[in-house]
Amino acid sequence: MTREPLPTFPPGFLWGASASAFQTEGAPAADGKGPSGWDRFAAEPGRIKDGSDASRGTGFHDRYREDVALLAGLGADAFRFSVSWPRVVPGGSGAVNTAGLDFYDRLVDELCAQGITPAPTLYHWDTPAELDDAGGWLRRDTAYRFAEYAAVVAERLADRVPMWITLNEPAEVTLLGYALGEHAPGRKLLFDALPAAHHQLLAHGLSVQALRAAGASNIGIAVSHTPVWTAGESEGDRFGAELYDTISNWLFADPILTGAYPDENFAALMPGPVADDLKVISAPLDWYGVNYYNPTLVGAPATEALDSFAGFEMPAELPFGIREIEGYAKTDFGWPVVPDGLREMLTALSARFGDRLPPLYITENGCSYDGVHDRARIDYLDGHLRALHTAMAEGVDVRGYFTWSLTDNFEWIEGVSRRFGLVHVDHETLERTPKDSYRWYRDVIRASRR
Ligand code: NOJ
Repeated sequence: MTREPLPTFPPGFLWGASASAFQTEGAPAADGKGPSGWDRFAAEPGRIKDGSDASRGTGFHDRYREDVALLAGLGADAFRFSVSWPRVVPGGSGAVNTAGLDFYDRLVDELCAQGITPAPTLYHWDTPAELDDAGGWLRRDTAYRFAEYAAVVAERLADRVPMWITLNEPAEVTLLGYALGEHAPGRKLLFDALPAAHHQLLAHGLSVQALRAAGASNIGIAVSHTPVWTAGESEGDRFGAELYDTISNWLFADPILTGAYPDENFAALMPGPVADDLKVISAPLDWYGVNYYNPTLVGAPATEALDSFAGFEMPAELPFGIREIEGYAKTDFGWPVVPDGLREMLTALSARFGDRLPPLYITENGCSYDGVHDRARIDYLDGHLRALHTAMAEGVDVRGYFTWSLTDNFEWIEGVSRRFGLVHVDHETLERTPKDSYRWYRDVIRASRR
């Protein structure tokens, strides 16, 4: 099947790929690295669905030069990777591990030598285990420790790093890690998880200050966004969908971009001097990052949870239910393929925040399919780039696109069986093999420079 060439993106549009430390680095104890909560969680029997070993990652720590060469072969402008907090500050506070910082120094040098912009994320879920033991993001102190660590990284790298990301997907950390217990640190606190949201927001705000003080600029954050579709017309369906929309789309975006929580009920449940914190949290950002995969169909919960849900008191479970979206192709992960959802989400962000919305980057977008002849991934990415272009033509200011992910990697509780890469990784030998989608993305990038 031949297809229409992709529309042209503006000159200077940034083409990139994304990855994260825990999902790729391996080497969990090399050169003085401390354990992260995820190192420990993934090692507990039964946590990882396919039983795979998280401790190897893709061997990125030792093979980063190979992956940077793959990025160069792609013609990528930028690489979004993450810095492992416990590699740099093994105990979460106190002594800095210079050898850990040296690794990122070498990686940044290698990227720069290939003309690729390094775009580090400072937190992609791997909290130092000692901090998790003390309560993790439920504690205000963790936000201050994070800002100290951010300063350490910036002091070392700001001379060569022109683009910074504070946190990745704080909503997933809150929901999966603290409310439902499916991710590290495995807490099942339901609405009592909300302090973890507030403290991540505070960590974001404090780290923006710390980064700027250490000479870093061009700072953003990567937040997941999903258009929420309402499953039905009942009161429970509408309530569930609205609540899910608030939690997943606005609980972080609103404080960051407007200085207020989306709902007084949420603000009232947050710890600390909330009004003062919101001033720190909403310091103007240089850009805002959107991670988009698919829309979400939400309605009333399958059980009676709604009946027991009075105001914001603890319900038996969260008072919404996620339903399967019918009528669209699915990835091998079972996620619906809805490219127009990206346009829908971007225009919704633009409508909600208007002039307060800084320029956007798509910091993640991609899909899990098996095989190296991955026509389905090409279709997915092609469709999403067209939808992105349409959103831009409708006036949304998007400056670049990072696909998730450069290589297959460790997909959290799914283990290594979910493959999001443009490059196949043999998880036994760690051998890399570019997929058809790698060559396709290389051609997209080339064509956009003509
Ligand atoms: C979001 C996360 O940031 C990333 O770590 C994960 O692998 C992808 N989504 C795919 O699930």
